[in-house]
Parts: sequence; C-alpha cells; structure tokens
Amino acid sequence: MFRDLTGITVAITGASAGIGAASARALVAEGANVVLGARRVERLEELGTELGDKAAIVEMDVRAPADSKRLVDTAVERFGKLDAIVVNAGIGAYGGIMDLTDDQLATMMDTNIAGTVWPIRAAVPSFLESGEGDIVIVASVAGLRGAGDEAVYAATKFAQVGLAGGLDRELREKNIRVSTLAPGGTATEFAMGAGRTPDMPGLKDMMNAEDVAAAVVTVLRQPRSMRTLMWSMRSIEEAD
Ligand SMILES: NC(=O)c1ccc[n+]([C@@H]2O[C@H](COP(=O)([O-])OP(=O)(O)OC[C@H]3O[C@@H](n4cnc5c(N)ncnc54)[C@H](OP(=O)(O)O)[C@@H]3O)[C@@H](O)[C@H]2O)c1
Repeated sequence: MFRDLTGITVAITGASAGIGAASARALVAEGANVVLGARRVERLEELGTELGDKAAIVEMDVRAPADSKRLVDTAVERFGKLDAIVVNAGIGAYGGIMDLTDDQLATMMDTNIAGTVWPIRAAVPSFLESGEGDIVIVASVAGLRGAGDEAVYAATKFAQVGLAGGLDRELREKNIRVSTLAPGGTATEFAMGAGRTPDMPGLKDMMNAEDVAAAVVTVLRQPRSMRTLMWSMRSIEEAD
C-alpha cells in the first residue's frame, strides 16, 4: 500500500531547474510541503509563487555546509518538521581528463560530492530527532558503470552511490531510508554549454525531468516497512 505524502515536508537541493523543480511540483501535487534550495533565487521565487503556501525557498550553495543547515532549519521553522531530503543539485561538464580545466573539475567534484554530503549531514539530526526520515540521492547511470568523455563526472556519481551504500548500513536501524536514483539522459539544462547543446540530436530521445520526479515520488510513497536502495532508469529510446 502506497504511503500518503499529504503534509510531509521535503527539502530539495537544486530546485531551481530540471529534476529538482519537477520533483517540487510533483511532491506538492501529492500534498507535500517543499523547501526549495538553489543559488538562483529569482528562479526559486518564481517556483515558490507557482506552488504557493506549500513552498518555502532558500538561496543556498550546496558547497557550503552552513547553507545546508539553513535549508533544514527553514523546513522545521516553516513546516514544523523535515521528513525527507532530495539531494539533487549537481553539475556536469563533458570532456577528456586533459580537456577540462582545473577549475571545472574542482567545481564539479565539490558540487557533486561535498554538495551531497553537506545536505545529508544537515538533515540527519532532524530525522534522528523525529525517529524517521528519507534521503533520496539523485545520482546517475554514469555512477554505475563509468562513461566515456565524462570520467570525472562519473566518478562523482560513483561517490554518491558509495556514500548511499554506507549510509544505508549506518542509518537503516534508525529508521532512515537512503534511496539512490540513477537516471540516464534527461532533457534539462544539465551540461548545456559544457558538452550538451539545446539542438543536439540525442536530447529528444532522453527522459524528461518529470519522469525522474515521478520516481522521486514513488520512492517516498513506498511503505515505511521497506526501502528502495537503487533505481536505475533510462528512456526507452536511449541507446547504450
Ligand atoms: N540531466 C541528465 O541527463 C542527468 C542524468 C543523470 C543524473 N542527473 C543528475 O540529476 C541532478 C539534477 O540535474 P538536472 O538534469 O536537473 O540539471 P539542471 O537542470 O542543470 O539543474 C541542476 C540544479 O542544480 C543546482 N545547482 C548546481 N550547482 C549548485 C550549487 N553549487 N548549489 C546549489 N544548487 C546548485 C542548479 O541550481 P542553481 O544553478 O540555481 O544553483 C539547478 O537547480 C544532478 O545531480 C545530475 O547529475 C542528470
């Protein structure tokens, strides 16, 4: 029997675009409250206005631990309790190991790895206090098998998968579920100008942000007596 998400509160990193924004819309449609985190505050304000009372926004950078703490504090102050966090913010830049700049690689590693750890560390005390919680990490198929021309991006996604495996062992007994989603290509702003272009041929065969958002909802709707560990998904059209 699926859980009813009415009234639960979910914090989402990377909520200003793509999968994060779609997840926010899908969760509010299920009756959840959402706390939207990202750097582009105008985008968050726009989405916040669209979603109304059920949404709060927090301008934040996932690379800063204090920002993640503000995200969680806002959830508790505004809605009374945090029930789940969707750790979704991430960036990708395509290119061989020698093609990308030091700065591109450092930013990608900091955003995707540290930017996964800080929001989780901020959320766990809140989950321990209330006796239950959900961590949903948006990783990638690139984090399951590597990917040519995006080796460092794939490494950051492997890091998320490894983190999730360890956290499941650490937190399951505390009634905190750790789920990893591993989407294939998804047509968003992701990697635009850094390996993808709006008119690139493969884009039309990819999943949409809403497809992944539906998986976020489905994972959270599983009865609390079970947990989803890994959900890998790809568009039917997308070749290997
Ligand atoms: N699109 C794909 O093909 C695909 C496939 C598999 C997995 N994924 C993963 O899915 C996740 C979401 O990607 P997407 O496709 O939705 O991309 P997107 O449309 O580019 O959205 C990325 C989101 O991350 C946020 N973000 C980036 N850096 C941030 C930072 N330092 N602090 C806070 N927020 C930050 C962005 O917001 P601001 O710029 O406003 O901060 C934006 O909201 C990523 O982890 C990505 O690796 C994507």
